[in-house]
Amino acid sequence: MEKNRIATLTLDDGRSIELPIMSGTLGPDVIDIRNLGKLGIFTYDPAFFSTASCTSAITFIDGDAGLLYYRGYPIEQLAEHSDFLEVCYLLLNGELPDGGQKAEFSRRVTSHTMVHDQMARFFSGFRRDAHPMAVMVGVVGALSAFYHDSLDISNPEHRDISALRMLAKVPTIAAMAHKYYIGAPFMYPKNKFGYAENLMYMMFATPAEDYIPNPVLVRALDRILILHADHEQNASTSTVRLAGSSGANPFACIASGIAALWGPAHGGANEAALNMLIEIGDVSRVKEYVQGVKDKKYRLMGFGHRVYKNMDPRAAVMRQTCYEVLKELKLENNKLFELAMELERVALSDPYFIDHKLYPNVDFYSGIVLRALGIPTNMFTVIFAVARTVGWISQWNEMIASGDHKISRPRQLYRGAVKRDYVPVKKR
Ligand code: CMC
Repeated sequence: MEKNRIATLTLDDGRSIELPIMSGTLGPDVIDIRNLGKLGIFTYDPAFFSTASCTSAITFIDGDAGLLYYRGYPIEQLAEHSDFLEVCYLLLNGELPDGGQKAEFSRRVTSHTMVHDQMARFFSGFRRDAHPMAVMVGVVGALSAFYHDSLDISNPEHRDISALRMLAKVPTIAAMAHKYYIGAPFMYPKNKFGYAENLMYMMFATPAEDYIPNPVLVRALDRILILHADHEQNASTSTVRLAGSSGANPFACIASGIAALWGPAHGGANEAALNMLIEIGDVSRVKEYVQGVKDKKYRLMGFGHRVYKNMDPRAAVMRQTCYEVLKELKLENNKLFELAMELERVALSDPYFIDHKLYPNVDFYSGIVLRALGIPTNMFTVIFAVARTVGWISQWNEMIASGDHKISRPRQLYRGAVKRDYVPVKKR
């Protein structure tokens, strides 16, 4: 039997409290501070540097060792041998599907790929130059207005159908956002295609011509989706959980996740990293640019991570994918790829990056791959959102299904004015 372990916290006034120490199956122990309020004090950890916000069995990261597991499976193995829909099944259900389960899951997702025809009208309300992420926040949130039949979050069947609908429809909405931006007609999904293939078809096909997807490029996009599918309690996932903790419907929760993902410190980094490479422009400017980073004029986008203090395992897969895609497109001498590799080499041998434990993250190379696939820069974070949707739903579902969640309500350290009396305007 596991020994009950405790940590004792003693305050400077002599009061003390015993706090249980909890262990997971992997990773560091955590101190359960839920009873701390009994002493009339709280902990202070604004950016969650030292706080576990939940228990989860979905994804594990060891940032020091550079490991990422989905349901126990290393990301490298999934990226090489699995496919995105299988990974979705794994994240949602906890186990890899057998052949029959895989085919049935794929059939169920595929049967929900179309959006309500009324949805197309939402798009014309946006300016043509609206950022596709702005469109995603609005239109995905609007899904909750279309599915009143499945918004009872305490009903597992409702949660299941909502998950399928989101997985199936978010790529369709993403492609519509792109088509609207470029002024091209929407393409309905084609269910003979696989998930990533269909996304490419809806983004790149036109009614005027046949579209034959390139399998190497489809595989690259599928791999990007796998790599971005979940990442435990990151900012957008925590946002989804926080929104969900109030009992909000899943479509609204996912829209809140999309909003949180948009920032350049999170999902917006792939767009920012590519823009950075374009701005540097030439290998000869790498050293000067790195100096600017060290002088804290700007950050090296696609570098650094709150949890990884080693190479992000997704970045290594992405660099290989980048190489494969460029080879397929006969772009081996791609200037941006050469620039990125030189930037990585210079940074990784520089004491600033070594001391700060800054390594490339998934976004360092993903922009080059996405661009080579023909995806415009303003769609990069949208692709991330398509991939992360399954992670958000899995985490949301885990929280709701646990049955013992409460509304998330952080406390604060108040440093505002102390009590004072109202003064009428004439006397101010
Ligand atoms: N370039 C230069 N310096 C950096 C960078 C960077 N990319 N990232 C962190 N640092 C430095 C930072 O200046 C600070 O230095 P000092 O201690 O001397 O003041 C130290 O490292 C710690 O930085 P921090 O901001 O306290 O670290 P954080 O854990 O809060 O930030 C991060 C994590 C990902 C926001 C940050 O590394 C960053 O801004 N990176 C660039 C944006 C990026 O690539 N984001 C994608 C993350 S991976 C995909 C995803 O999860 O969405």
